[in-house]
Amino acid sequence: MNPVSAIKHAAEVGYRHFDTATVYKNEPILAQALKETGLAREDLFITSKVWNDMQGYDKTKQAFEETLQKLKTDYLDLYLIHWYMEDESVKGSWQALEELYKTGKVKAIGVSNFSINQLEKMKGYAEIMPMVVQVETHPYFPQDELRNYLVKENIQHESWGPIGQGRSDLLSEPILVALAEKYDKSPAQIVLRWHIERGSVIIPKSVHPGRITENSALFDFELTAGDMQAIKEINTETRYGRDPENTGY
Ligand SMILES: NC(=O)c1ccc[n+]([C@@H]2O[C@H](COP(=O)([O-])OP(=O)(O)OC[C@H]3O[C@@H](n4cnc5c(N)ncnc54)[C@H](OP(=O)(O)O)[C@@H]3O)[C@@H](O)[C@H]2O)c1
Repeated sequence: MNPVSAIKHAAEVGYRHFDTATVYKNEPILAQALKETGLAREDLFITSKVWNDMQGYDKTKQAFEETLQKLKTDYLDLYLIHWYMEDESVKGSWQALEELYKTGKVKAIGVSNFSINQLEKMKGYAEIMPMVVQVETHPYFPQDELRNYLVKENIQHESWGPIGQGRSDLLSEPILVALAEKYDKSPAQIVLRWHIERGSVIIPKSVHPGRITENSALFDFELTAGDMQAIKEINTETRYGRDPENTGY
């Protein structure tokens, strides 16, 4: 299915939250697809992210305006710094995001791919701390320490790669297959429900209409504390993306 059709199908089955980034080059595609759905802007939640080469105060302001143009909108629901780079550029970008937030051009601001250490450093210069932190999270890499920190700091945890990006045998794990049978769901739905039970925001991606529908049918069952504990056992601390502490991008 082409991306425009996939987005339109997602909208038809109820998705309203769309995650983009300048580096994904998907902002214009989302704008085109959403226009074709006829949905009202206020019913949508649109995220984008400033890429690494546009970090720093002036460049981030410029990147934001370009993003608005590509998305054909006059505000974002969430704008994120895509990756931690180094303190000075993050500082300038964050100041730009704080200003955009204060003017109402962004409803919420946050960061992606930051470690606890990097978030703690922000306390030295941030007037407003991130409202959302988007990081790789799935049962093989549950981010327990970061998640506990975010709960303590009252920051919303958002999971990217929520079903492991199709880069492992996660969905064949016997416990996930068994729970899928128990609840008459798929292993992917069990994993996505696991995120919901932990209070994380999820942004699963698929280009297949059946999976797009499947990945949103998560609200007619719940996992028990025992199920959650069993899923905890399969943690291998394996991340498939880069470690934010390794800043050599
Ligand atoms: N902030 C960041 O640095 C960052 C990094 C990566 C991703 N992201 C965001 O996170 C979103 C999701 O992450 P992701 O795409 O990397 O990983 P993901 O959502 O965990 O996994 C996507 C993969 O799983 C497959 N899949 C989807 N639904 C399935 C189902 N029900 N059963 C079996 N397989 C299924 C997809 O294949 P098909 O498409 O063929 O169905 C695709 O190969 C991205 O779209 C992006 O917006 C952010």
